[in-house]
Order: sequence, then C-alpha cells, then structure tokens
Amino acid sequence: MAQARIARLTETDWRAFAGVRLRALTDSLGAEDPQYRYESTFTAAQWRRRLRAHAQFAAVVGNRPVGLIAAQRQSSESVYLYSLWLDPEARGRGLGRTLVAEAVGWARSQRVRRVTLRVHVGNEAARAVYDSLGFTVSAGESGDTGDEITMTLNVN
Ligand SMILES: CC(C)(COP(=O)(O)OP(=O)(O)OC[C@H]1O[C@@H](n2cnc3c(N)ncnc32)[C@H](O)[C@@H]1OP(=O)(O)O)[C@@H](O)C(=O)NCCC(=O)NCCS
Repeated sequence: MAQARIARLTETDWRAFAGVRLRALTDSLGAEDPQYRYESTFTAAQWRRRLRAHAQFAAVVGNRPVGLIAAQRQSSESVYLYSLWLDPEARGRGLGRTLVAEAVGWARSQRVRRVTLRVHVGNEAARAVYDSLGFTVSAGESGDTGDEITMTLNVN
C-alpha cells in the first residue's frame, strides 16, 4: 500500500467523508444497524453540518480515505475523541496511532487540559493504540457502561 497522509476534512470533502464513514459503520456494525440506516439517508447538507460541527481527520492513501477519527470540543477543559476506524486493509501499519496523534495535536492547539475517549474493554487493538500514546484509564466516569471505559490524556 502506498504512503498515507493525514488530512483534516473540510465541507468540500463531504462526499469522501460520507463514503468512508458509511464504510466504517458497515464494517463495525453491519448494514442492518440503525445507525448505519440513519446516516445512509444523510443529505449533502447533513454531511456538511457534521464536518462543520466537529473536527474530522482522515488517513488518505492516494486520493482515497482509508480511516477516520473525530474530535469534539466538549468544554473549555476537554476534547472528546470518537469514531476511530481504519479500513481492515490499512491496519497494522501505525496509521491508527498516527490518526489519534493528529487529533491529540489538534486538541493541544485548542489549549484544553485533557483529551478523553471511550473504548470497549475488550478492544485490544484500540487499547494498544491509546496506551502507546499515554492515555490512561479513568476511574468510574459517568456514562461508562459495564463494557466501556473512559481513557484520558493530559495535554496542557
Ligand atoms: C483500532 C484500530 C484503529 C487500530 O488501527 P491500526 O492502524 O491497526 O493500529 P496501529 O497499526 O497504529 O497499531 C498501534 C499499536 O497497536 C497494536 N495493535 C494493533 N492491532 C492490534 C491488535 N489487534 N491486538 C493487539 N495490539 C494491536 C500495534 O501492535 C501497535 O503497537 P506497537 O507499535 O507496540 O506494535 C483498528 O484496529 C480499527 O479500525 N479497529 C476497528 C474500529 C475500532 O475498534 N475503533 C476503536 C473504537 S474505540
């Protein structure tokens, strides 16, 4: 596979964003999942709105996005990361870590104190990525379910 780069997506990228986001949902949840069914009906205006609302970063090979992560300013103190996904063919090359590192860099530029995310306890691949960047498990955050934990990285 050719060299990859990380790009912050803008509204003009909405078609590429929609394509990779829907691939992520079908790969992770399946085409029968309600979230996939909901987002597959999005109009151009809805995809553009999502790109305006939160920072979306893509791993791009050639002109093709092969991975995504989203970052949302949660408060004056924190940024929340979500929807990390890599095309199965692009996994195992360090791109997951590069995507998360880019989103963390963006969070730093927002001058927040910490970056948080949620992960399924059994998701070893994702845990390895977050651990390697210094994220640690936070005890008993509100919103955690039995299967999910919150991880935090102090950035400023
Ligand atoms: C999680 C995910 C993004 C990782 O992407 P990736 O590009 O394969 O990860 P990287 O190549 O950057 O790997 C980073 C580290 O994780 C480790 N790792 C990757 N996959 C792993 C696995 N299946 N089991 C254990 N460790 C794993 C790597 O060995 C590497 O550590 P190292 O540098 O010490 O060798 C990818 O597996 C994915 O898209 N999974 C499905 C969606 C998902 O689970 N998203 C996270 C939701 S919280």
